[in-house]
Amino acid sequence: MLRIRPFRLEDSDAVIGLWRECDLLRPWNDPQKDIERKLTVQPELFIVAENAEGAVIGSAMIGYEGHRGWVYYLAVKPACQGQGAGRALMHEAEALLLARGCPKIQLLVRAGNSQVVDFYERQGYEKSDVLMLGKRLIPDS
Ligand SMILES: CC(C)(COP(=O)(O)OP(=O)(O)OC[C@H]1O[C@@H](n2cnc3c(N)ncnc32)[C@H](O)[C@@H]1OP(=O)(O)O)[C@@H](O)C(=O)NCCC(=O)NCCS
Repeated sequence: MLRIRPFRLEDSDAVIGLWRECDLLRPWNDPQKDIERKLTVQPELFIVAENAEGAVIGSAMIGYEGHRGWVYYLAVKPACQGQGAGRALMHEAEALLLARGCPKIQLLVRAGNSQVVDFYERQGYEKSDVLMLGKRLIPDS
């Protein structure tokens, strides 16, 4: 039985381990700092999936800035993939954003992770012809 619930501080190690297992960590993003920052902004939009034994097997970090909703760090433990947890996390992300009046969800897929695009398309997401630009304001390392 899968349960989606808000992240709790004591989930930190499990969540960082999950992100590592799912290859979502990058040297320029300190995952501990990412968690700490998220807990200062809409912490209720940081969710985890818990299995019947109470172990964290999935995560999604969600945000809404008044224009678009964003989903980051969507991850399901490899051993638990293909059982609907990813879909359940995205459904919950959509419900949380809709409840806040958010009109559209967007998300970024790293170049090199294009196999996940099929998963999102199955959930009704469409590719956009955009180029993302970024500028680091606080170096993590
Ligand atoms: C993407 C991810 C979260 C999907 O989680 P999951 O629990 O395996 O997904 P689900 O079991 O809920 O699958 C939902 C549907 O998508 C399909 N699906 C899942 N992964 C897929 C893939 N890689 N390619 C095609 N279809 C996929 C499933 O078959 C299922 O189809 P259905 O609706 O017809 O039953 C998981 O593969 C993952 O953690 N990947 C590594 C981290 C990552 O890349 N995150 C995204 C960063 S942008």
